Amino acid sequence: MTSLFDSLRIGAMTAPHRVVMAPMTRNRATSAGVPTELMAEYYAQRASFGLIISEGVQPAAIGQGYPHTPGVHSDEHTAGWKRVAEAVHGAGGHIFLQLMHAGRISHVDVIGTQPIAPSAVTPAGEIFTGTGTKPFEEPRAMSADDLVSARDSFVDAAKRAVAAGCDGVELHAANGYLLNQFLADNSNQRTDAYGGSPENRARFVIETVQAVAAAVGGEKVGIRISPNGTFNDMAMTHIEETYGALLAGIDSLGLAYLHVGEEPGFAGIKFSRARWSGVLIGNTGYADSDKIGSAVSLVESGGADAVSFGRLALANPDLPRRIKNGEAMNKADSKTFYSGGALGYTDYPAL
Ligand SMILES: Cc1cc2nc3c(=O)[nH]c(=O)nc-3n(C[C@H](O)[C@H](O)[C@H](O)COP(=O)(O)O)c2cc1C
Repeated sequence: MTSLFDSLRIGAMTAPHRVVMAPMTRNRATSAGVPTELMAEYYAQRASFGLIISEGVQPAAIGQGYPHTPGVHSDEHTAGWKRVAEAVHGAGGHIFLQLMHAGRISHVDVIGTQPIAPSAVTPAGEIFTGTGTKPFEEPRAMSADDLVSARDSFVDAAKRAVAAGCDGVELHAANGYLLNQFLADNSNQRTDAYGGSPENRARFVIETVQAVAAAVGGEKVGIRISPNGTFNDMAMTHIEETYGALLAGIDSLGLAYLHVGEEPGFAGIKFSRARWSGVLIGNTGYADSDKIGSAVSLVESGGADAVSFGRLALANPDLPRRIKNGEAMNKADSKTFYSGGALGYTDYPAL
């Protein structure tokens, strides 16, 4: 029987165990999106995770969603990530950067221009902009040229991440951001080859993954999905057909992993396991009240190869040993999730 503490080959690297740090936006970069020394310290503190997946990182200026999120589209960004990667590697860890293009989950006050999306459909709700919380605005429907430049921005960002010394990239196709907006028919009402049928809705994500894998090697590329997720006003029909088409389109690319977030009402991890021949990282979701027990049984039953932890990783820099030894946990303070400098960031104590 496989255990959470057996080693695991993920792409070109070997994780000493299967406890993964989930991507978490923390808004501690400079206003220009440059990763700081404090961020290097935060990630290095978590080097004992089998793999660190970074917070969402915008691959282009127009893909930024929130203030003070990091980018990976300038030389200054790349130099900042080099310092982060060196700190993580120096402490014995591994890090993939999560490439997150926010699409319509943004605001002119954040990016200085109208956000883009598959279609001009305004999401319900409000967004924190740095100058207060504002209602979402109608995004501009992406032209054929916009599709090419968005896809190219993922490719360029992946090259920069690898040049910075990161172990790979995770394409964020979950939680209502741009790639997820293509998959869901409430946000994607296109009438071209990228909208309509489940195969068409999966097409932009497949082409982007293919292009990134061709540029940096499939073993350096992961992807995150959240089938049936409703965060950021997602709603879709034909879930099985759409995610089935997506997985069929990318399974042969030899990717490092597929990362699946479980959402209420759909067994996304089980669905994906049956359709994915590579490494599968599960996240049991916000609603799970027994994260550690679920992780142990998910890996032991073969339901997933590894499990990612969000809030427990945020609050416990040494989470893997705490799980292994059954030790007490620090509790995450939601007041400092998205601001606070070192407070609620690098000051959670290790045992
Ligand atoms: C503060 C915070 C920020 C997050 N930011 C991201 C993000 O940038 N990208 C992403 O894919 N998920 C993000 N998530 C979701 C987590 O990766 C994870 O799926 C979620 O927290 C559920 O896991 P948990 O119950 O272990 O916390 C975030 C979660 C939290 C708490």
